Amino acid sequence: MRRRTNVPNSRRRRESTTTSLASEITKYEFENGRCEGPKTLTCSTSADEKVCRRYHSYRSGQYAFPNDENELDRMDLENHLFSLVLGGNLHLAPLDSPQRILDLGTGTGIWAIDMADRYPSAAVIGTELSPVQPKWVPPNLTFQIDDFSQDWTFQEDSFDLIHWRLLLASISDYPRLFKQAFDHTKPGGYLEVHEIDPMFYCDDGSLPEGSSARQWSVLFLEACAKLGRAIPPTDSYKVGMEAAGFVDVQERVYKRPSNTWPKDPRLKEIGKFTYANHVEGLHAFTIGPFTRALGWTPLEVEVLLAKARAEWRSRAIHGYQKGGGLGAEAGGENAGSEGQEDMMSRFNAVWLKFGFGGFGCCLHEVLHEVLHEA
Ligand SMILES: C[S@@+](CC[C@H](N)C(=O)[O-])C[C@H]1O[C@@H](n2cnc3c(N)ncnc32)[C@H](O)[C@@H]1O
Repeated sequence: MRRRTNVPNSRRRRESTTTSLASEITKYEFENGRCEGPKTLTCSTSADEKVCRRYHSYRSGQYAFPNDENELDRMDLENHLFSLVLGGNLHLAPLDSPQRILDLGTGTGIWAIDMADRYPSAAVIGTELSPVQPKWVPPNLTFQIDDFSQDWTFQEDSFDLIHWRLLLASISDYPRLFKQAFDHTKPGGYLEVHEIDPMFYCDDGSLPEGSSARQWSVLFLEACAKLGRAIPPTDSYKVGMEAAGFVDVQERVYKRPSNTWPKDPRLKEIGKFTYANHVEGLHAFTIGPFTRALGWTPLEVEVLLAKARAEWRSRAIHGYQKGGGLGAEAGGENAGSEGQEDMMSRFNAVWLKFGFGGFGCCLHEVLHEVLHEA
């Protein structure tokens, strides 16, 4: 569990990107009126949230999904799903009296709040584009409106744990983010990442021919790539972490069943919440990317979503999503220095192929192939 000694530890002056809460960041944008019959309702800035989706305004357009109450409730529901998957644990990293913890893209801040309660002597920071977190939080927790894709203003080598969860479709430059995370993790500290793979998987042939749920996944990946937020398969993160300098990357890949179809009671429970989460979130995940990147009309989106939801609901279809949790350590001497250049070029090859390749079949399979060909 070592960090290379030859990693530059630059402390150059960085442009400040941390912004205090100003009124303009709460002037949310409204878009994507829901369909009423064949008609799409138009949104204005004073839009009714029952009709329109609400989007962040600070660094507008960075994040393609809404930040409205429906979506915030869904994020809290998904927090419970992660708790089920991780057996009630908040993290996988073996923390010992952490002093500083950073949660990137904290959302409602639910994980950061739990961490601040769990480690009262640690200073916990959650960064976000949207000021949607509660005001009353543990005293050792602060939320900052900050864009993690910019240069970070935190002190380098200062965090015991940097955590991110569900930033898929939010990251345009993975190597840079992994590198910034590495530079800001203390020697011996950890980066922990939890993501899901939006592909709709099925192993036993119960997925119908021409499945709409599968079609949604492929189109979603295509739309995100076109928006400059290509989603890597969960098992590719390890390469990116190692290329940035992290060592001893531990990876846990698991299944999130599409509903209560499994016999196993634990998987059934996970499936119950996976279903609720996905069906509740589908409109939020789809309406922005499909209309902006693929040129679909809201009505076309609704039609596909209705068919995809029906497949997600069917217990005869044994579908699942893959989730992945990865923990990696930064610290120590020399270890991890071997093969860094190879890893970086393999990592870059994935992104180049992803960026310039066609969108023919399933991009995930293309990525998977590149990552595992070595
Ligand atoms: C799907 S939510 C996940 C929230 C939280 N991590 C969780 O697991 O509950 C992704 C969050 O990342 C935030 N986000 C996306 N891009 C960001 C950026 N460049 N800087 C800061 N936050 C960002 C979004 O505003 C959103 O709240």
